[in-house]
Amino acid sequence: MRSDLFASDNTAPVHPRVMEAILAANEGPALAYGEDPLSARARSLLREQTGARHVFFLHTGTAANVVGMAPFLRPYHAVITSHIAHLNTHECGALQRATGARIFPVVTPDGKLTPEHVEPFLHASGNPHESQPAVVSITQPTERGTLYFPHEIRALADLAHRHGLLLHVDGARLPQAAAALGLSLGALTAECGIDILSLGGAKCGLMYGEAVLLWVDTKEMPFHLKQTMQLAPKMRFIAAQFLALYEDDLWLGLARTANTRAQHLARELAALGITIAYPVETNAVFPRLPAPVARRLLDHYTFYQWEDDIYRLMTSYATREEDIEIFARKLRSFLEAV
Ligand SMILES: Cc1ncc(COP(=O)(O)O)c(C=O)c1O
Repeated sequence: MRSDLFASDNTAPVHPRVMEAILAANEGPALAYGEDPLSARARSLLREQTGARHVFFLHTGTAANVVGMAPFLRPYHAVITSHIAHLNTHECGALQRATGARIFPVVTPDGKLTPEHVEPFLHASGNPHESQPAVVSITQPTERGTLYFPHEIRALADLAHRHGLLLHVDGARLPQAAAALGLSLGALTAECGIDILSLGGAKCGLMYGEAVLLWVDTKEMPFHLKQTMQLAPKMRFIAAQFLALYEDDLWLGLARTANTRAQHLARELAALGITIAYPVETNAVFPRLPAPVARRLLDHYTFYQWEDDIYRLMTSYATREEDIEIFARKLRSFLEAV
């Protein structure tokens, strides 16, 4: 049978403690749409841990990106982001549909934006013939698994703010980034001056559920949530999962394991003479594989070709050391056969 283990961190099962929290939340009636005590507790926990002013729970990461930015975008606005940002490549134009705003994609080899990338887009400011940049969006860790250091985020936030823009962080895997850098969630968000965060859950052991955190005020968010069909009636079950993840630092253990397994996988690949295309800094590994070897591996494992001979393998909290050793043994036999 083909294994989906390395296809994505989304393929991991729900962590047992998260499942227990869902079951425990399933007691008696509770007000819907986030007006229940669990939702209030989870919002206040995330506010405490990050210094955010507002927290909203919703269903998907795409929704978190779009709804997080929507209150700050008009149809004449644009979002500056990397050309490989999930927002640009894998969200089917959701941002454009929901807000009417454009995306200005910047070519970045490793997915990391710098102030030098952003600056050229700021000159159109005030010109009525051109879309007006309103948000800079970065992904932490990037879609290549690489990391922004706090000072790099701060530099982007400062530039954005000097020009009246906001900084959004797609943190679908922020726990993995914080674990890799040895930093708290607050050190990677509030302390870097960010304005909007999409905080992932499904890629760190949750069944489903993501969050939007804001360091800026808006009264519009409930309307955007409702119009984009993201105002969850049974919100207590999303909140319960976030409480399980963040109340006792469960997130840190899960993210550390995911990252450690990626390092292990990278070592095994390197020992077999496989080149890794990008530094392995979180839980993604991008090996360069000869096509015949990739074809044979794909009979046994689901994973995706990223570009040319580069493929993506993801690890998660649920990847076991022995899974990596079995994968390496298979790969060795295919390499020997070609
Ligand atoms: C960087 C990044 N952002 C956001 C998402 C959110 O995706 P979804 O809408 O599938 O939850 C993903 C999922 O793969 C992602 O990798």
